[in-house]
Amino acid sequence: MDNKPVVLVTRKLPDAVEGKLAEHFEVILNPDDRLYTTDEILELANQADAILPCHTEKFIAETIALLPSRVKAIANYSVGVDHVDLEAATQKGVIVTNTPDVLSDATAEIAMLLMLGAARRASEGERIMRSQQWKDWSPAFMVGQQITGKRLGILGMGRVGQVVAQRARGFDMTIHYHNRRPVDSELVGDAVYHASVEDLLAQIDVLSTHCPASEQTRGLLNSQRIALMHSNAIVVNTSRGGVVDDDALVKALESGQIAAAGLDVYNGEPDNIHPGYARLDNVFLLPHIGSATHETRNAMGYRAIDNLIAIFNHEQPRDRVA
Ligand code: DGY
Repeated sequence: MDNKPVVLVTRKLPDAVEGKLAEHFEVILNPDDRLYTTDEILELANQADAILPCHTEKFIAETIALLPSRVKAIANYSVGVDHVDLEAATQKGVIVTNTPDVLSDATAEIAMLLMLGAARRASEGERIMRSQQWKDWSPAFMVGQQITGKRLGILGMGRVGQVVAQRARGFDMTIHYHNRRPVDSELVGDAVYHASVEDLLAQIDVLSTHCPASEQTRGLLNSQRIALMHSNAIVVNTSRGGVVDDDALVKALESGQIAAAGLDVYNGEPDNIHPGYARLDNVFLLPHIGSATHETRNAMGYRAIDNLIAIFNHEQPRDRVA
C-alpha cells in the first residue's frame, strides 16, 4: 500500500482497534458514536475507499447502488451480514467481509445466561429485589426449572451453536440439533441430528437459535412450530430477531403453551420491539449484547482490520462473504 486507503468507520470502536486501524489506514472516525443516516454515510463515503460498519447500518440494494465507485469494500464489524444486500454488493463489485469465530464464546455465554435466566425466573427475581418487594420466603416461592440434564435443541450448528453445545454439556444437557446438513461428528460429538426443525422442536426442553437471518429463516419459529414444543419448553434467541414470529411467541408465552423465553435480539430493535415481551414475567430480556465483551469487541476489530489489509494488498480476505 503506497498511499494509505481511507476507511470510514461508522461507529465508535474500542480505542485499541481505532489505534491499530490508524497504523494501516487513513480513518474517518465517529467519536460521538452517533447513528448516521444513510444519506450521511453516502456523503462520508465520497472520501472513503472502504467502509467498516456495524449491523446498525443498513446497506440495502438502493444504498449500495449509490455508493461512490471509489468504495471497494464493506468490512463489517459483525458476524451477521443480514444488514447488507450481498447480491447488490457483488453486482457492484464491492467486497464484503464479516468477523466470524471471534464472537462465538461471548455469544455462547449470553445464550447460557438467557437459558438460566429464563429457566430460573431471574428477571422476576431482579425486579422483586430492586423494587424492595421481597416479603417472604417459602418452598413455593419463585420456583423455576432446572436446566441440568435437560435436552437442548440447537437450531443452526455453526460456530456459535457448537460452542453453546460444549458449554451446555457442562450442565449435563443432551444436545440435539438441526442444520441444513449434519455436521461432522468431530465437531459436534454425540449431538443428535434432526433432519427437520419440526422433529427437533418436538424432542427438546430448551431451544437455542443460532441460524443466520435470511429469507429461509424469517419467522421460522412460528405458531405451527411452537405448537410442537411441550409446555415446559424454553426458547432462547441470540441470533437475529427475524428468526422468530413475535406474535406467535408472545401468544405462546402468555397462554402458557411454552414456559419461558430468553431473548437478546428482536425484530424492530432497538426501539420498535413487540410490546408483548416487556409485559411478560416469563421472559428474560437483554439488549443485543451477545458479543459485548471487551475481549470480543477488540477481536472483532482486529479481524475486520485483517480483512481490510488483505483487500488493499489485493489478497483474498479471510472472511469474504461477497
Ligand atoms: C454480530 O456480530 O452479528 C452481532 O450481532 C453484533 O452485530
